[in-house]
Amino acid sequence: MERLCVILLLVSKTLMVNAQFNGFNCDANFHSRFPAERDISVYCGVQTITLKINFCPVLFSGYTDTDLALNGRHGDAHCRGFINNNTFPTVVLFSISLSTLEACGNSLVVSTAQGPNAYGNLSLVQIGNIAGYIDTPDPPTVISYLPGLLYKFSCSYPLEYLVNNTQLASSAAAISVKDSNGTFVSTLNLLLYNDSTYVHHLAIPVSGLTLKTRVFAAVKATNLDRRWNVLMDYCYTTPSGNPNDELRYDLFFGCDKDPQTTVFENGKSQMGRFSFEVFRFVKHKNQKMSTVFLHCVTKLCRSDDCPLLLPVRMAA
Ligand SMILES: *[C@@H]1O[C@H](CO)[C@@H](O)[C@H](O)[C@H]1NC(C)=O
Ligand SMILES: *[C@@H]1O[C@H](CO)[C@@H](O)[C@H](O)[C@H]1NC(C)=O
Ligand SMILES: *[C@@H]1O[C@H](CO)[C@@H](O)[C@H](O)[C@H]1NC(C)=O
Ligand SMILES: *[C@@H]1O[C@H](CO)[C@@H](O)[C@H](O)[C@H]1NC(C)=O
Ligand SMILES: *[C@@H]1O[C@H](CO)[C@@H](O)[C@H](O)[C@H]1NC(C)=O
Repeated sequence: MERLCVILLLVSKTLMVNAQFNGFNCDANFHSRFPAERDISVYCGVQTITLKINFCPVLFSGYTDTDLALNGRHGDAHCRGFINNNTFPTVVLFSISLSTLEACGNSLVVSTAQGPNAYGNLSLVQIGNIAGYIDTPDPPTVISYLPGLLYKFSCSYPLEYLVNNTQLASSAAAISVKDSNGTFVSTLNLLLYNDSTYVHHLAIPVSGLTLKTRVFAAVKATNLDRRWNVLMDYCYTTPSGNPNDELRYDLFFGCDKDPQTTVFENGKSQMGRFSFEVFRFVKHKNQKMSTVFLHCVTKLCRSDDCPLLLPVRMAA
């Protein structure tokens, strides 16, 4: 008799919880709990930041999807998320476009911190950090029996990259709980053109380019939020594809410039432009052709910050 009662109690409790999850992809055994840190994932992309929140513990806590909003903007429908029932568990998705960050109260802070530099080594570099939170509204009462939910997130993007004159493959960003890192390197390309109009790409003949041919080069950002400008710090050449090759010839480094190199535009738009004359590496003297690999250490800066980062003589 006693045992029967216990079973009945258990069954009725399970039914109650299942009713609460009401057809969403939740499992009463796993999700009858309040949210934890693992219930948010952050994807720091090139154009958007995507946040995924496990919806089941939100339901268990007594809230619905419309109770969750970015940075306390509960009155603003476009600062709320979207339910996605196609996953287990059901998630609420928030998508933040990097070009309209401020619309839902997110902000970008550029700071100097330890991070990977252009060569992947840790050093002091500029980092763009976007941070914010998702929470539930405060009830209009003095006390509440529902816990307030708060999910914090951040995305860090290093702002210094090494760009080669080979097309860079697009890179996947890391997925992690709460804090995550992204990169804009896939938006940067080092392109070669045949004249100062920067319209026609340079076609390299099979026999190679004639020495002293003027080559027009550009580090160009594509699909990158308009707030960033491209600033070339250091462009150099190596006889091999290895950007760390000890043998190198510098085209320009801050104010120091090879006499045949001209910098046309730097830090003023999403394209940095310069030209130089074709030369050969003397170590290739026994070869028919000398190969030259071009590399540029490039920073992204906000238009207001760029003049501060430019070498003094150029900014003046
Ligand atoms: C998700 O599933 C729930 C429960 O079946 C349903 O009420 C809701 O409308 C669905 N939402 C979407 C976006 O499909
Ligand atoms: C990067 O770090 C490695 C290992 O410490 C070092 O050998 C290399 O010279 C560094 N490269 C640059 C460009 O600083
Ligand atoms: C982000 O990058 C920094 C610097 O490289 C590293 O210390 C940190 O662990 C990374 N964070 C994540 C979540 O990957
Ligand atoms: C660059 O290429 C275009 C198209 O092939 C050509 O019309 C133009 O004359 C070239 N410019 C130079 C300087 O060779
Ligand atoms: C630059 O190009 C070389 C050879 O193409 C490649 O090995 C290297 O990884 C590239 N560097 C970066 C930072 O993409």
